[in-house]
Amino acid sequence: MDRARFSPAGTANPGPVGLSPPNPSPPNPSPSPPSPSPAGPRVAAPGFPQRRMRRLRRTPALRRLVAETAVTVDDLVAPLFVREDADQPLPIRSLPGHVQHTVTSLVAEARRLADLGVPALMLFGVPARKDAEGSGAWDPDGVVQRALGELRGALGERMVLMADLCLDEYTDHGHCGLLDPAGGVDNDLTLERYARVALAQAAAGADVVAPSGMMDGQVAAIRGALDDAGRHDVAILAYAAKYASALYGPFRDAVDVSIADGGDRCGYQQDFRNRREARTEVLLDVAEGADMVMVKPALAYLDVIADTAAALDVPVAAYHVSGEYAMVQAAAERGWLDGPAVALEHVTAIKRAGADIILTYFAGQLAATLGA
Ligand code: PBG
Repeated sequence: MDRARFSPAGTANPGPVGLSPPNPSPPNPSPSPPSPSPAGPRVAAPGFPQRRMRRLRRTPALRRLVAETAVTVDDLVAPLFVREDADQPLPIRSLPGHVQHTVTSLVAEARRLADLGVPALMLFGVPARKDAEGSGAWDPDGVVQRALGELRGALGERMVLMADLCLDEYTDHGHCGLLDPAGGVDNDLTLERYARVALAQAAAGADVVAPSGMMDGQVAAIRGALDDAGRHDVAILAYAAKYASALYGPFRDAVDVSIADGGDRCGYQQDFRNRREARTEVLLDVAEGADMVMVKPALAYLDVIADTAAALDVPVAAYHVSGEYAMVQAAAERGWLDGPAVALEHVTAIKRAGADIILTYFAGQLAATLGA
């Protein structure tokens, strides 16, 4: 394009842009009539034509040099599922590429991820039997506890072992806590069970327990139980701003959970219309002893991630959840978009918004392309 066309008020072309004298003042309002130029109206951006944003986008190396955000394999956490009664890995219909693992295949997958440089995994269990209390969650012989022991034995400290701490996979009604006689979720009764789960997971080898049930006071209850047992070393990643989201759909297939009587989690998870409320949630969790906090889901909540990163000094995690993965995979399978490119764009946006840690079902795939 002919840059002279954009000279302020029709002044002479000041010569090559790099040699032009500094001109900090904005272009004077033109006394002349609007330009009939086919290029359209005068560009209003201050600084043009001295300032040209495209200069730093010219080559891949320039773009790399000025990139503000880089997702690395160090940022990633891989969610994994282990099923108690499986004798072979079972594909998860709505999470293509993911399976309900046996303990053996889980250990093999964790090794593969560790070799790719993924520093952490988040483990979910699918028990063979469910009951009203979800007792499999704290059974020392429960599926997650057994799997943690095997992972620790196989991997040593090569990977951070995180365990999702909740009851919904273990209760026959599918809620994240114990029910009161009226069918509601009893917050305070549930806290005592969460404390048991934390102790069982810690004893089995978890580095990090991650309470995801959105009960009030859950972080304090868990921190207290761990400290009383002398487990000051076990960290808490709190699902702090967790919204009641339709994007968890595929996850429910992954863990065989359906909520009784067509229920939902709106009585304990956050309402997606609310933003300020998330700030209170994350501040409360840090005050209760959370070492890290999580925002979940991720892409539809970038404002919440940004608010959280601005409000806190602790590491901020974001969970790019099952539905976010499934949407990309489904469209990619149809050839409607480039799956790996969208995956990278999504996790980069999540990091750009302020997340330090990203849980994503793309962890393995990204690690393979990002390099360790
Ligand atoms: C609860 C839990 C859920 C997810 C992680 N932990 C489901 C829920 O709250 O209903 C969802 C994760 C995903 O969708 O990927 N144990």
